[in-house]
Amino acid sequence: MQQKIIILDFGSQTTQLIGRRVRELDTFCEILPYNKFPKNDPDVIGVILSGSPYSVHDPEAFQCDLNEFVGKYPVLGICYGAQYISHSTGGKVERTESREYGRAHLKSVDNSNPLFVGFEQNSQVWMSHGDTITKIPEDCKVIASTEDVENAAYASSEKPLWAVQFHPEVFHSLQGKTLLKNFVVDICGSKQEWSAASYVETTVEELKKQVGNDRVILGLSGGVDSTVCAMLLKKAIGNQLTCIFVDHGMLRKNEFNNVMEAYSGLGLNVIGVDASEKFFKDLEGITDPEQKRKIIGRDFVEVFNAEAKKITDAKWLAQGTIYPDRIESLSITGMTIKSHHNVGGLPKEMHLQLCEPLQWLFKDEVRRVGYELGIPASLIERHPFPGPGLAVRILGDITPERVKILQDADDIYIETMKKWVCEDGEVLYNKVWQAGTVLLTTVRSVGVMGDERTYEHPVALRAVTSTDAMTADWAHLPYEFLAKVSNEIINKVKGVNRVCYDISSKPPATIEWE
Ligand code: XMP
Repeated sequence: MQQKIIILDFGSQTTQLIGRRVRELDTFCEILPYNKFPKNDPDVIGVILSGSPYSVHDPEAFQCDLNEFVGKYPVLGICYGAQYISHSTGGKVERTESREYGRAHLKSVDNSNPLFVGFEQNSQVWMSHGDTITKIPEDCKVIASTEDVENAAYASSEKPLWAVQFHPEVFHSLQGKTLLKNFVVDICGSKQEWSAASYVETTVEELKKQVGNDRVILGLSGGVDSTVCAMLLKKAIGNQLTCIFVDHGMLRKNEFNNVMEAYSGLGLNVIGVDASEKFFKDLEGITDPEQKRKIIGRDFVEVFNAEAKKITDAKWLAQGTIYPDRIESLSITGMTIKSHHNVGGLPKEMHLQLCEPLQWLFKDEVRRVGYELGIPASLIERHPFPGPGLAVRILGDITPERVKILQDADDIYIETMKKWVCEDGEVLYNKVWQAGTVLLTTVRSVGVMGDERTYEHPVALRAVTSTDAMTADWAHLPYEFLAKVSNEIINKVKGVNRVCYDISSKPPATIEWE
């Protein structure tokens, strides 16, 4: 049995964050559409109702049948969840003057209630509501208020039911983690047994059952997700797994060989395909970023399929899809799962079934599972790298010569970053979310080298800090580091006579230039 908390998603932007927080309590959870509560699942130990962009009074507001779980499991309503419970069970929700956005402070906190054990009076919480709960259900009592809102938290005296108007899952609710721990561990009784080791153990068993003696194919990219996916499968089914790694010619310098070597060190059975000629030919003269992406995506599918077709006994296609990919595409009204950008469109006549062993993991959990499987840090801690590779970092059309220039510049930048130890003892590469170089082939500037005038292209360095690539800030790299990199690139890379550093945040810029 694997205990789980069900999080019913009413469409809030912070639903995923609730999931993250529950996992941080070493407890498994599933985020499901608001009206898809699993009625006969013996593993459920509690239910959380998320916030929503709607008001309970909106005609299109999401509704669920509370009778499916209220009174049967411990339930926690958050924001809209709290309002919905009140609205549906005899309380009242109204649009008043007391709407709150941002920081608020709790008062009259009832520390004798199990939800608020260890809470301080005046604890800062994060609010975001236009409507206010003006009356709570009959069997409930108020367990915390704020300056402006009387019913900031309430609990039933008869059933295991709690509701909070604020968002405990967000960073700015300073004791939010305490509240969620009180609910998940003390109220729901989680044994906190969800860990990377237990995930590996149960997933390997499941994969053995799912796949049996069949052959599985998997597209590797050198990135964390596909590597961890491959190693999980290898542990489960050994050499019934065949991996395919396509080189489109726009990877980092020596990356294809380095990654193939690393994979071979891990004992993976990998077919490496050098298809760079085809990609370069099809990209000739193309300057529009979206067109570049389309051509690369199409060529990738063609090359991958041609290789996959040779593996005639394959029955399964494995993909490194992770949980956030699924939640984003699990629209809360439908259940369509997006196809992976690397292998979309595999020919139907191959009749392959999909196998997605990472589908329950958040990114940092994938890394933890990776370490558990003995994958070296050099593969697990790699910066993200876009599927189309350096093609979207060469502004203008792509030629093998330009790729070579960019690879050389990029190699100096990244290798120096990997060796640079900061004042606090941490390696600079590990402090940065993602870094890369951009070749501005559409710009030329004048320089002087020795006695000669040069007229060449600039390279832009990009480095950002981020947690999820949705927003990012430019990394404040040390000047001494930038000076060293700039000097080396200009001295060693023929074709580049100027180096700039990109100091734009996302938004309004993006991480990639194209
Ligand atoms: P942007 O440039 O949108 O990038 O801020 C966010 C993250 O996505 C990566 N990226 C891509 N990854 N195919 C990919 O597989 C693509 O076409 C693509 N475009 C951007 C980018 O490197 C960053 O990590």
